[in-house]
This record gives sequence, C-alpha cells and structure tokens, in this order.
Amino acid sequence: MADEPFDATPFLPQRRTLDALRDAAAGCRGCDLWEPATQTVFGEGPKDATFVFVGEVPGDREDREGRPFVGPAGRELDGALVAAGIDRAETYVTNAVKHFRFEERGKRRIHQKPDAKQIKACRPWLLAELDLLRPEALVILGATAAKSLLGSSFKLMAEHGRPLDSDLAPVVVATIHPSSILRGRDGESRQAQRDILVEDLRVAAQTLAKP
Ligand code: URA
Ligand code: SF4
Repeated sequence: MADEPFDATPFLPQRRTLDALRDAAAGCRGCDLWEPATQTVFGEGPKDATFVFVGEVPGDREDREGRPFVGPAGRELDGALVAAGIDRAETYVTNAVKHFRFEERGKRRIHQKPDAKQIKACRPWLLAELDLLRPEALVILGATAAKSLLGSSFKLMAEHGRPLDSDLAPVVVATIHPSSILRGRDGESRQAQRDILVEDLRVAAQTLAKP
C-alpha cells in the first residue's frame, strides 16, 4: 500500500485567501486526526490583525463549536489579553494543529498533545495563514506551537517573554500556553502561571509600541 500523504500540502487551495484556506481545511485528511474529530478548527480573526496568537490544538469545546479558544483555555487567554492591554478585536487566533486529538475515557474525551508527525503535517496550514496575515506581532503559546514555528531545539522555559529574532514577524514572542494555568495544582500556582502569561504578552505589546 502506498504511504499516506501525512501532510496537509495536497489539500491547500490554489487561491490563497483566508476564506479559501478555511474552506479547504474543512476537508483536510493530511494526517490521522481528522477522522475521530468533529471538524477542522481553523483560525479566526480579522485579516489585518496586528497580533496573531498560535496555540496547540483545539480542545473538546473547540472541536464541538468549530472555533479556536472558546473553552476554558480561551477564557484564560481573554483575561490575559485584557490584563496586557491587547484588544481582542485586533487579534487573530489559531492553532499549530487544527483537529482535536483526544483519548476516550468512558464518556469523556481527554485532550492529548499532538505528536511530532501531526505537528509537521498540519504546519502548511499555519504557514499559509501567517503568509496571508503578516502580523506585526506573533505570539507563540506553548511548546507545541514553538516546535512547529521555531524548531524542536527551542527552549520555551529559557526563552519565553523576550523578543526573538525571527523572519516570521517583526515582533515574535513565545510564552506559556494558557492551559498550563488550568493545570496548576492550587490557586497560587495558577496565579503564578497567569502572571507569566500576562507579563510576556506585555513584552510583545511594548516591543511593538517602540518606535
Ligand atoms: N488550546 C489550544 O491550544 N487551542 C484551542 O483552541 C483551545 C485550547
Ligand atoms: Fe489536516 Fe491538520 Fe487536521 Fe491533520 S490535524 S487532518 S493535517 S487539518
């Protein structure tokens, strides 16, 4: 049997607009994640967004609703944007991998991290989005998005919260994923994670504001 394509490339449309990408991504079979998932969760936001945020993979809520960051992690992200003074209307949010990956435990669907192959397979969608959006500031949320966009040698915990030298955008900052706040064991550790996220988002906003 021939090898699976294991890459989204053959599914990308000729015409490159965000709407055309979104429509085509709905039928992507570039890796094994499409089948158990409900739908493709494509990026969302204005084409002229100043900021683009890249998360990991849609969660349970996102899979059902077909929109990124609408569940608990999205609430954390929204709160951090407000605290950092970033207007949600100026942001486009998307994910490194566009189908929910989960494990079924009884009636529950437990989020799983996408593996290296799936991250690589889905990367053409993300690069096509970035190519159209050309944001002024790119914020990379967590290790999966960092792996996709900055390579596997990038050390998130050593390099988060500082402007990175990258061709991806004039300002590129990596930070923790908002869901790491939700995994905090108590209120104190959740607040500590929240503070890191807000502080790193402020770095992105302030770097952008510099003349
Ligand atoms: N976590 C993500 O990385 N992306 C989402 O859209 C939701 C949760
Ligand atoms: Fe295609 Fe990405 Fe979905 Fe895999 S996760 S099927 S590459 S859209």
